Amino acid sequence: MEKTNEFAFHRIPAPLLSWYNAYKRDLPWRKEPTPYRVWVSEIMLQQTRVEAVKEYYRRFMEQLPTVEALAACEEEKLLKLWEGLGYYSRVRNLQKAAKKIVVEYDGKFPVTLAELKSLPGVGSYTAGAIASIAYGMPCAAVDGNVFRVAARLEENPTVISDPKYRRYLEEKISAIYPPAGRACADFTQSLFELGALICKPQNPDCAACPLRDLCRAYAHGTQAEYPVLPKKAAKRQENVYAFLIETPQGICIRRREEGVLRGMNEIPSVIVADSGETAENILNEWGMYEFKEVKRQKYTHIFTHIRWDITCVWVRTEYAPFDAYTLEEIEETVSLPTAFKQCFAILKDKNER
Ligand code: ADE
Repeated sequence: MEKTNEFAFHRIPAPLLSWYNAYKRDLPWRKEPTPYRVWVSEIMLQQTRVEAVKEYYRRFMEQLPTVEALAACEEEKLLKLWEGLGYYSRVRNLQKAAKKIVVEYDGKFPVTLAELKSLPGVGSYTAGAIASIAYGMPCAAVDGNVFRVAARLEENPTVISDPKYRRYLEEKISAIYPPAGRACADFTQSLFELGALICKPQNPDCAACPLRDLCRAYAHGTQAEYPVLPKKAAKRQENVYAFLIETPQGICIRRREEGVLRGMNEIPSVIVADSGETAENILNEWGMYEFKEVKRQKYTHIFTHIRWDITCVWVRTEYAPFDAYTLEEIEETVSLPTAFKQCFAILKDKNER
């Protein structure tokens, strides 16, 4: 953790809270901030933009309005509700935690920070968000927005992946919370809001910032230097064959047994280790000898750590080597990650139908 001159954190809340009261967005999870609603929204908002989350959140709450409903939800339905949001371990942990709450806490959401952190998928950020927003406790929730705001305010040169920096900010920010109650919920969200609307990663709108007079980065014109982000590891590149196997029963879908997206549905795919492996070889290995190749199309899909260069191969055959589903079933009930969804565009080619 790098040294910085003492910063007057206690000067943040008053101007920030009055700005928040004037400019806060009307977001669905801000109505009725029960612990369940806050928790689901915060998990969705990790790695996903507010605008993208809104509709997912609405559907999720409509289908699974309580922790009991989430605990009892069938896996396929749950994955369908999450389809397209990515980072599917988030929703698996959500259900594991819901089951734990039902079994160990009689369906009542735990109250202390330590108990919240013991739930699968709940780290100190999510625990702080639930504690402050749902329970009105003076607990910081340090996410990327908060790192950015705080790092600029005090020109802190510490890389944000340093766990000591997170603990330092949790301590400094928890110490300036209003007394327990509604204002704690507002203070947590005012920091998110400032990070999202004003203190943006690029081109911060400093002219409109309620904390401008406190901000060292603004004073020195160094906004772009903060926060200090960890160096990104280079992405691994993989070549993938994805087979759209069209049969009289529908399109083949199977479960992935390994690698990225393990446990999710896929259209049957293979990572091609060496260039000698042909699509035909792979289909033969699956017991398919009679088929007609209709068309191929290339796509790229980017995961956090991997880049997939996908060759989608559309083939027709009489005998399905895996379970097959109609397009309607795939649309309505079968969950399929975005990496595979894009292959369906190939079917839109009317000349081939
Ligand atoms: N980002 C993370 N949590 C958020 C929240 N509760 N409101 C808006 N943006 C957020």
